[in-house]
Amino acid sequence: MGSKGRVPLREPVDEKGRALMTMPLNAIELKAVTKRFKNITAVDSVDMQINQGQYVALLGPNGAGKTTLVEMIEGIQPHDSGEIFVLGKNWKDDKHYLRKIMGIALQETRFTDKVTVRETINLFASFYEISKTRADEILKRVGLAEKRNSYVVNLSGGQRQKLAIAVALTNNPKILLLDEPTTGLDPYSRREVWGIISELKDNNTTMILTTHYMEEAEYLCDRIIIINNGKFLADGTLNELQNKFSDGDVIEFTLTGNGKSGELDNLDKMISLKWDEEKDKGIIVTSDSVATLNHLLKLDREHVIDIKQVTSRKVTLDDLFISMTGKHLDE
Ligand SMILES: Nc1ncnc2c1ncn2[C@@H]1O[C@H](COP(=O)(O)OP(=O)(O)OP(=O)(O)O)[C@@H](O)[C@H]1O
Ligand SMILES: [Mg+2]
Repeated sequence: MGSKGRVPLREPVDEKGRALMTMPLNAIELKAVTKRFKNITAVDSVDMQINQGQYVALLGPNGAGKTTLVEMIEGIQPHDSGEIFVLGKNWKDDKHYLRKIMGIALQETRFTDKVTVRETINLFASFYEISKTRADEILKRVGLAEKRNSYVVNLSGGQRQKLAIAVALTNNPKILLLDEPTTGLDPYSRREVWGIISELKDNNTTMILTTHYMEEAEYLCDRIIIINNGKFLADGTLNELQNKFSDGDVIEFTLTGNGKSGELDNLDKMISLKWDEEKDKGIIVTSDSVATLNHLLKLDREHVIDIKQVTSRKVTLDDLFISMTGKHLDE
């Protein structure tokens, strides 16, 4: 057969005609991942794709499932069902490769106390067959150079956290997973850690960071995922999340301790009401604050409720979180 009838070879393309070879590879991909502990579903059929170089914040209240999710990606906890790929590989078939490319800081890291800071890094460097000069380089980077000969037992809480980050960075990871890296740090140290983390962005590092701090997510991350009860409630850039509720207003009110009336559930133009039983406090999201406020004040005049205090303002990202989870981020 001559060359006439041959179809010329083309670069593979997707359904929109984009070249597949140049499309960003998913750094992390989860398909319907579930994890149960007895009667608790800690992670509930989660799908997630994270591109290489993306910084993602996982925001959620205590018990939301953040640590469980991250530890399954880290290969520390097995998942019950679904699939997890990191740079296209999985823990079952490629554990040596995955160990090499991941940097991990657990929510609570226990180091051996009677070992110095530098020895701790050297120990981890030896796992990765990395030269010993790396220890000094990395300790300088996280601001622990002066403490290199101190025993770990003598470090402050914040210094231990910096050591945990230093350990996570020892192998120059492609994938960085940090579980609440700045919880308990003073504001200055927190800023220092933010600086270290944002520098890595230039190396095309991919990161998932769990946090209770909205400002940390805003400062460091391109993308914010809000998680509660093992499910994703929102996923997008800060702008996208804010725009979702940009038309809304918030009314906060406190009642004198006579309890909540059922009539509060049907206020004019109300989108949602979160009621705090203990504080006798309500937070309303509304599409028309004047209409909702009028209705609220009418109930007060009719003595259905007795309002102690009431304020109205625009929605913030924090409100979005509260309206979705019923909890404050730092609860
Ligand atoms: N080993 C375990 N055995 C039983 N239940 C567990 C275990 N680990 C986690 N859980 C439960 O799974 C749920 C999710 O926990 P997880 O630690 O993932 O939450 P989190 O979002 O990291 O919370 P925090 O902000 O407090 O760190 C919780 O209800 C928790 O009690
Ligand atoms: Mg946790």
